[in-house]
Amino acid sequence: MIVAIDGPAGAGKSTVARAVAETLSFTYLDTGAMYRCVALARLRNPQADAAALEIGLTEAVMLDGEDVGEEIRSPAITELASEVAAEPEVRAAMAKRQQALLASGDWVAEGRDIGTVIAPHAELKIFLTADASERARRRAEQTGRELAEVLAEQEQRDRRDGERELSPLAAADDAVILDTTVLSADEVIARIVDLAGERAGAGEPR
Ligand code: DC
Repeated sequence: MIVAIDGPAGAGKSTVARAVAETLSFTYLDTGAMYRCVALARLRNPQADAAALEIGLTEAVMLDGEDVGEEIRSPAITELASEVAAEPEVRAAMAKRQQALLASGDWVAEGRDIGTVIAPHAELKIFLTADASERARRRAEQTGRELAEVLAEQEQRDRRDGERELSPLAAADDAVILDTTVLSADEVIARIVDLAGERAGAGEPR
């Protein structure tokens, strides 16, 4: 079974997706971390070929054998990840890996295009959203950075992720839209776990 969780930056996807995966005993797939690894590889070597990178996401985020879990969360990588994610070759290489992983087992996969492009057959699709000002407020609180600066970067990233030609951020037609401006993380997690239970039950032979 696949639970797809898409949405813009700061909507709470990671917190929610991790908790849902843990509750359901599904494997968590952070596709954003893959694009961040490509960005880091490019920062180190502008000629880096995304398709040739070794990216591991099991315990830690590993890039060519090195734990890069912290490094990929820097503002510079956050910015560059959004840029490399618009490149057709990068998207194709990451999509291939993601689809190979999702081909068997039970997954909670988070990203921007899981329900629309990577796993349009997912049993449950969630589009997690929140007001831009609330998303920026959360990010500023987490990082201790200036709110105005975070908001400006977020607007630019939302625009780039949402307007790019290939697999832009979008809710699938059959996605359940949950707004975390008004729902707590616990409420959202409980709702998704309930929905996953319903969908799993619906798919079982009678
Ligand atoms: O979710 P995140 O912030 O870690 O994602 C980093 C960047 O990667 C973000 O700018 C959008 C991009 N991304 C994407 O284009 N498609 C995905 N499935 C996941 C992330």
